[in-house]
Amino acid sequence: MKIAVLGAMPEEIKPLLEKLQTKKIKYANNTFYLTNYKNHEIIIAYSKIGKVNSSLSATIMIEKFKAEILLFTGVAGALDENLKIGDMFYAKSLVQHDVDLTAFGHPFGYISESEHFYFADKNLIKIAENTAKKLDIKLHSGIIASGDQFISDEDKKNWIKKEFNADVVEMEGASVACVCSSLNIPFFILRAISDEAGKKAEFDFEKFVIESAEKSAIFVLKMIENI
Ligand code: ADE
Repeated sequence: MKIAVLGAMPEEIKPLLEKLQTKKIKYANNTFYLTNYKNHEIIIAYSKIGKVNSSLSATIMIEKFKAEILLFTGVAGALDENLKIGDMFYAKSLVQHDVDLTAFGHPFGYISESEHFYFADKNLIKIAENTAKKLDIKLHSGIIASGDQFISDEDKKNWIKKEFNADVVEMEGASVACVCSSLNIPFFILRAISDEAGKKAEFDFEKFVIESAEKSAIFVLKMIENI
């Protein structure tokens, strides 16, 4: 099977590039790393931060490199106070928190003729849960809210949490989900918590991004062994 593994930042795919021998292909102002792993063809890339960049990379991985499923790996800010730095979290569903068409009577995050919440692939979730069980790792799950903002403000954090019933905030998941859903590609979005999206978020992020990114990336590699 052809599997896309996408991150947003170099730190999010570095642990994979250190473990795998890859062939580099430059395309669309980005680098795509191709390799084989456990009978699968793997395409790895980091998109650069945000919904636009991640949509572009996901589309290229599917349309040009012919990925059949997509796994996203990276870090996120926790909205739910039960989630701690280093915890692993996957999306059951995802929404864009920065979409505002409320002037037309729509709820936040909703665009006509588009999905409001995107749902991750049930089979990939099952594979992730089985992988976690084997490794004795606890996976948390729930709703990811994505937007083109690094959240480090308590009021904004609480608004996103309440408005979308979201557990986690990041900047790419929902846009990747939109691309995959539109192109009928099963997807799974995994995040390890790097910060709590409140007033010390940028300090925690700087401190924990590498450690948390590695946790997520290594788990995705283990997951591929079970696909
Ligand atoms: N990714 C990691 N932490 C984040 C935060 N606080 N806001 C948005 N994206 C993030």
